Amino acid sequence: MDTISLAPIAALLPPWYQKNARPLPWRASPAPYRVWLSEIMLQQTRVEAVLGYYDRFLAALPTVEALAAADDELLMKLWEGLGYYSRARNLKKTAQIVANDFGGAFPDTYEGLLALPGIGPYTAGAIASICFDRPTPAVDGNVLRVFARYTEYPGSVDTEAAKKDAADALRPLYTPGLCGTLTQGMMELGACVCTPNGAPKCNLCPLAAHCAAHANGTWERYPVRTEKKARKTAELTAVLLRCGERFALRKRPGKGLLAGLWEFPNTPLARTKNAADEAAAFAALLGAKPTGLLREINYTHVFTHVEWRVHGFYFTCAETPASLTWATAKELKSVYALPSAFRPLAEIAEMAETADDLE
Ligand code: ADE
Ligand code: SF4
Repeated sequence: MDTISLAPIAALLPPWYQKNARPLPWRASPAPYRVWLSEIMLQQTRVEAVLGYYDRFLAALPTVEALAAADDELLMKLWEGLGYYSRARNLKKTAQIVANDFGGAFPDTYEGLLALPGIGPYTAGAIASICFDRPTPAVDGNVLRVFARYTEYPGSVDTEAAKKDAADALRPLYTPGLCGTLTQGMMELGACVCTPNGAPKCNLCPLAAHCAAHANGTWERYPVRTEKKARKTAELTAVLLRCGERFALRKRPGKGLLAGLWEFPNTPLARTKNAADEAAAFAALLGAKPTGLLREINYTHVFTHVEWRVHGFYFTCAETPASLTWATAKELKSVYALPSAFRPLAEIAEMAETADDLE
């Protein structure tokens, strides 16, 4: 790959991007607060999924000062369903540093940005180049794929070495005035043209005349991936407990998966008796006195490292023990941040409300 020149990228990609960039909301103005928020939301999350969250978040917390002072429950509610909730917690930590220690101004260098919570090499490179015109590549999965195909990169892209090789190869291509354009051009090409599933759209690619994988018809072999470890599975009994018009919630522990978020009570499936009896016994143990089983729902929720098989049971109950939090369906929607892993049960609660079976 040492014979392959990346220089054409510097010449061809910026004009392509200027013509073809999608008009995404964070591209309208490169204010650091807006760009930072978008880059954090876009870590591990697709553009289409972020769109619905981004404007709402900015409307609720329009400045870094507002975010620094935000109530944690509101913050989690704004993040509800996006996943990887530590991103939101780090967002607030960084906002507090910027608002309180830096007078509201983000650091304008890669190193300064990298020192902030939740900002790694990718995000620091993205913000520094997009907001401050610094020659700092931002290597995410999209960029790695373009780089790996263009150079027929032989190593696995699932390594720090590959990210470093890509960043080192791209860095010399940055020229003043075009740093943000090059960063976003690489991302955009990877997202829209040099796509991950199925054949890349080489006929639309401004780099086609210089790309090794295109020349050799080898796009299918790149990027080289390391096989991922299989996910663990966990089986859970979860209960939707209704007493009158309220549903039982509890807060998850402050550490670990979905830390500090709300959940419907759940417990590892024991398989000592049939699942419904087990769920009823669990509800009784919580002190809720289950009186009738209304529905059963089984679903799977996939996290990065674990997959939950949830056996969900909807019970009416006679008691509202104070060890649980009792919320109306409306409050479930508007107040409590409930992760997607509990969404199917929340939907049953919301349906119960509209179906008029609540007095
Ligand atoms: N993915 C990560 N950052 C992005 C950006 N700025 N635009 C589009 N997709 C992205
Ligand atoms: Fe990707 Fe094809 Fe462009 Fe090469 S020519 S970078 S394989 S889209």
